[in-house]
Amino acid sequence: MANLLTLFFVMEVIVSGFTFGVDDLNMNYYLFSCPFVDPIVKNKVSTALQNDPTLAAGLIRMHFHDCFIEGCDGSVLLDSTKDNTAEKDSPANLSLRGYEIIDDIKEELEKRCPGVVSCADIVAMASRDAVFFAGGPVYDIPKGRKDGTRSKIEDTFNLPAPSFNASDLIRMFGQHGFSVRDVVALSGAHTLGVARCTSFKNRLTQQDPTLDTEFAKTLSKTCSAGDNAEQSFDPTRNDFDNAYFNSLVSNNGVLTSDQTLYNSPKTRNIVNTYAMNQALFFLDFQQAMVKMSLLDIKEGSRGEVRKNCHKIN
Ligand code: HEM
Repeated sequence: MANLLTLFFVMEVIVSGFTFGVDDLNMNYYLFSCPFVDPIVKNKVSTALQNDPTLAAGLIRMHFHDCFIEGCDGSVLLDSTKDNTAEKDSPANLSLRGYEIIDDIKEELEKRCPGVVSCADIVAMASRDAVFFAGGPVYDIPKGRKDGTRSKIEDTFNLPAPSFNASDLIRMFGQHGFSVRDVVALSGAHTLGVARCTSFKNRLTQQDPTLDTEFAKTLSKTCSAGDNAEQSFDPTRNDFDNAYFNSLVSNNGVLTSDQTLYNSPKTRNIVNTYAMNQALFFLDFQQAMVKMSLLDIKEGSRGEVRKNCHKIN
């Protein structure tokens, strides 16, 4: 009986451990080297979000900004040094949140299995769990990313700007291998969190015709409290749902890059579909997130496992 169980166990590892076109990555990467990595990350994220549910948005955005620049390699976590200004000090990253959760997880993992779990994997797993705890889909991601050693402020020009239209977004995401559908699904991450006035005030001065007149008043009121005043993307800022897409249908999108998804004929049907069918949004979102989590992975000797997520070893 014991032998049979062992056989099932080994088969399960083989079946669920197959690779994803990225040689060294797999679902069970830490099975023997750090077996409790998943529950540790889940517990830490759960506790952090119970204290402050708004941080789910921070973790998901951090993973996106990590993956889009230099691949998912923890480059967004590196601090600037006297010779180098890092990604995190770019204007596009100044409002990133949740670094302390990543530090806390790393500290715990370094106690349990020193030098084993990369910071890049921690960000990817924390983002996965943040989606779940906010009410979104459950999904897993392959692990085994290595941490990068390059983090330069100038690289962050490759992040999409809030002023982008649908064609700009499709072009930029297309360069990373994403489909038009992926662009809309991933933008659905804006079901969580907020934007600061500075990210959308251009729409108020130029009388954006794609902005609902009543909603324009709401945005103006937010901005009356200053450039850093926060506006939630949809009415349920801490719930992962499809309310964001319904907001776009009512011309209540916050950023130009949000509302364009409804106004452009290239993406409008997809927005309508997600607004009507949350289950389909969840399915497409999780698939696109797994794809994003595999962008330009540093495998094997191309990277390292940092001891401290803030600096290279
Ligand atoms: C499609 C192109 C995108 C653009 C132009 C964009 C731009 C922005 C901007 C300007 C903000 C507000 C920043 C601020 O004012 O402080 C924001 C927030 C956010 N973004 Fe995006 N984003 C895009 C795609 C994504 C993707 C793909 C994800 C994740 C998968 C994501 C996740 C988030 C989240 C969760 C927030 C809220 C953060 C918080 O409340 O702390 N965004 N985004």
